[in-house]
Amino acid sequence: MIKPRVFITRIIAQEALDKIAQDTDMGVWPEELPPPYEVLLEKARDAEGLVTLLSDRVDAALMDAAPKLKVVSNMAVGYDNITIAEATKRHIVVGNTPGVLTETTADFAFTLLMAAARHVVEAANYTSKGRWKTWGPKILLGQDIHNATLGIIGLGRIGAEVAKRGRGFNMKVLYYDEIRRSEEEERRLGVEYIPDLAKLLSSADFISVHVPLLPQTHHLIGAAEFAMMKPTAVFINTSRGPVVDQKALYEALKSGQIFTAGLDVTEVEPIPPDDPLLTLDNVIIAPHIASASFTTRKNMALMAAENLLAGLRGQTPPNCVNPEALTG
Ligand code: GLV
Repeated sequence: MIKPRVFITRIIAQEALDKIAQDTDMGVWPEELPPPYEVLLEKARDAEGLVTLLSDRVDAALMDAAPKLKVVSNMAVGYDNITIAEATKRHIVVGNTPGVLTETTADFAFTLLMAAARHVVEAANYTSKGRWKTWGPKILLGQDIHNATLGIIGLGRIGAEVAKRGRGFNMKVLYYDEIRRSEEEERRLGVEYIPDLAKLLSSADFISVHVPLLPQTHHLIGAAEFAMMKPTAVFINTSRGPVVDQKALYEALKSGQIFTAGLDVTEVEPIPPDDPLLTLDNVIIAPHIASASFTTRKNMALMAAENLLAGLRGQTPPNCVNPEALTG
């Protein structure tokens, strides 16, 4: 029997590759950097399935070049790199990896929150650069995390886990979302709904963003929103870079309109080396690693493998973002 041809855009966990190799004729891109778009297009020509990462663009032109394509399995919870409507039109199912990365990502959002509040990176640099001369009563003062108010924008799976971490630090947790949780869930999570984003921004000491990138969330946080924040505010983004107007963030940090920021994502990734944000001391920028634990990356790869194999069999993947692709 001829096995279906699949292409995987990076070397993912071996357990997942082994699983995929059993049932497919598998090609794997061996480099650290993603395959250039033209290469991906070429590889997709005879593929029935693709395993992609968030750095791989899967658009209408690519799908047009891949007439046999049945499934795109994205090893990420976010899927803004894939034009879903175009996939659905062509009956291509798209899988993602929700759930398995929720707590790891929330851990990292909270890590950034704490590090930005207490100047952890600046302090380590201060020591390593030989600037530690004495115990100083005013050196590297930060913001208290315990008892502060945490404002969460987007209380989905990850936002809710960040809320739990905040409650563990005795924070008052407010949230803003398009969809309100039930009263029972609000009670369980210990969170208070704020229907007005401006009110949340002006009341919170810490603000953490957990929304997907959609046309309506592009630049959700810009100059007007930073102007509403407290001068002591700590701003965290582990969602997608374009949710924040990065120029406005730079101005807010530089002028002292807000205190510090912790980012795992930037508008362009990787952030260009001449980006002015990189000149500031009051921002920590991580290279999009919030889900990067050994266990979680293995589980994401296994989930992506399951989604791929189900799609190849003509089934709806267990985690499918467009099940209507098969029914419509
Ligand atoms: C990471 O950003 C993901 O969407 O999984």
